[in-house]
Formats: sequence, structure tokens, C-alpha cells
Amino acid sequence: MQKLFTGLQPSGSLHIGNYFGTLKQTVELLEKSEGLVMVADYHALTTVKDASLLRKNIVDVARDFLAVGMDPKKTIIFQQSEVPEHTELTWIFNTLITMAFLELAHAYKDKEARGLETNVGLFDYPVLMASDILLYDTDIVPVGQDQKQHVEYAREIAAKFNNTFDETFKEPKEKILESVAVVPGTDGKKMSKSYGNTIPLFGTHEEITKAVMSIVTDSSAESPTNVYNIHRLFKSEQELGPLYKANKGKYKASKDALIADIEAFVSPMRERRDALSDSDVKKILKEGSERARDLASKKMADVRQKIGVAL
Ligand code: ADP
Ligand code: TRP
Repeated sequence: MQKLFTGLQPSGSLHIGNYFGTLKQTVELLEKSEGLVMVADYHALTTVKDASLLRKNIVDVARDFLAVGMDPKKTIIFQQSEVPEHTELTWIFNTLITMAFLELAHAYKDKEARGLETNVGLFDYPVLMASDILLYDTDIVPVGQDQKQHVEYAREIAAKFNNTFDETFKEPKEKILESVAVVPGTDGKKMSKSYGNTIPLFGTHEEITKAVMSIVTDSSAESPTNVYNIHRLFKSEQELGPLYKANKGKYKASKDALIADIEAFVSPMRERRDALSDSDVKKILKEGSERARDLASKKMADVRQKIGVAL
């Protein structure tokens, strides 16, 4: 059976770009794969420096995984920092790859170009991510388009290790759903927390309404493209065609319809989410982290042998 691995940073609330770009297809793929889904808290630490916020976000992301339909009996849902083998393997990989290789990473270059702090952890981000993926003999990594380069890094790091020492790591493949590789935000650009153009997945009625009403529309166009491009995630083009024809020129009506469709779509997930207490979620994370650690420590025993530190 193919092995799946993916992760999400606990750095804020989920938006519909995260859901349609990654989570939805992850849930579908998990029907026919075994897998691990990780709360990437050490990745988030490169940007989040508020302990109580990080603590809250970790539990919230795990709750979101459960709400969108992941089954903790089948899938290992775990917390990165609870499995220290991830950071240990990162150090070993750090000694194999060059600065020049990491300087090519888009995520780092973008942050630098935007004048944000570029701490060493941010620079090393792709290596930690490679460790996450490679520790579990992963075949596929469902992600959005912006993470493609990171999975390429994981492949190259695996090859480098295998060539230097001995065949140890599998080379993973990214799984990107082309139709939703880049979900647009309220301004038509890629939806992203860092651009402030998101529609929250589990927002209140007021938050969803506010976000949808802020979708930028072009008053000279017949049909509000930015609204439509988000709406098509929730309804088929056949259903939307007549609706948009009938609402020609009336953007408010299309936006109202979009709000109703988002709410109808999210409501069963929201119910599941509201039914989970913090302690339920923490228990699931703890059990998942123990299962992950068991797998990771076996892999690390092999790695230590291969590099020559196990005496
Ligand atoms: P953000 O850009 O909001 O900070 P993250 O980097 O935390 O989002 O992304 C988490 C996951 O969701 C990644 O797999 C990413 O590829 C996916 N993702 C985020 N935004 C989008 C989007 N607009 N379209 C498609 N996938 C996305
Ligand atoms: N970098 C990913 C993101 O921002 C999160 C992540 C961390 C991840 N480790 C991973 C994704 C391993 C897939 C596989 O979304």
C-alpha cells in the first residue's frame, strides 16, 4: 500500500485555500493509503514567538484535521516536536548539503525579498521538511503548488544520502491537484495568510460574510470573475452557469449565493469540530505521536548505523 505523509503549520486558522489545495485530497487519498498527518509546530516556530498562541494553534490544527474527516484509528495524527528524530535527522542532512543548494529555495528568497526576518531556522526549513517526509518511507506528499519545491528538496536530499552512504531513503513524489493548485484569494491572487486575502474555513457567519463581501470585483465586467473562481470550488460549473447568467451585473446576489454555499458545505465539518474538546484532541495527538515515534526511532537506528555513529 502506498504511504502518504503531509503536514500543516499551526500558524493560524485554516482557510479555504488550505482545504481545497491540500486537505480535501489528503482525506480522499487516505481512503486508499496508509499515512501520517503532522502538526508542523517546529516549522511554525520560525515565525510564531508567542507560547500561548502556539499552544492553542497546535490543538486547533489537530482539531481541523479531525473535522475535515481524518480518522485517527487509521491515520497517525501527530505533533512534530514530540518526535525528536525529526530534528536529529535534520542535523545529519545539514552536514551533507550545501548553503548554495538551500539558497535556491523560493520560500526563503520570498521572505527575504519582503524584508521579513530570515532566521537560520527559516533557511533550514526545507531540510526539516525533508526529514519529516523521509523518516517514514513516504511515497506521496499531497500539497499545494507552493510546496512543490520542498518535496523536490526531499527527493534530492534522499538521493544525496543514499549515494554518500547506502540505500536508506525512498524518493517521495508530491501530489498536486492541478485544478486547485492555487486557490485564489479575495483579491484574485493566491489565497494566503500572509497576504490577508483569505476566507476562513471555520469562520463565523460574520467572518465569512465579511471576507466574501471583500472579494474584489471589476465593475466593467459582466461576471465577477474573482467570485466565480472561488464559487466553483463549492458547486459544479453546470450549476453555476445559469446562476451567474441570471445574476449578470448583480454582484451582491452572486456573493450572497456564495456565502450560503460555503456555509452549507462547511456546516457538517463545523459540527464535528465543535463536538471535540481540547482534551479529546490532545489525547489523539499524544497517541499519534507515540506511534510516529516508534516508526521514526526504528528508521533512525538504521541511519545511525549507516553513518557510523552507532558503535
Ligand atoms: P499560507 O500560504 O496561508 O500561509 P500554508 O503555507 O500554511 O498557507 O499552507 C498550508 C498548505 O495549504 C500547503 O500544502 C499549501 O500548499 C496549501 N495552500 C495554501 N494556500 C493555498 C492556496 N491558495 N491554494 C492551494 N493550496 C494552498
Ligand atoms: N511546509 C508545509 C506548509 O507550510 C508544512 C509541512 C511541514 C509539510 N512538513 C511537511 C507538508 C511535510 C508536507 C510534508 O504547508
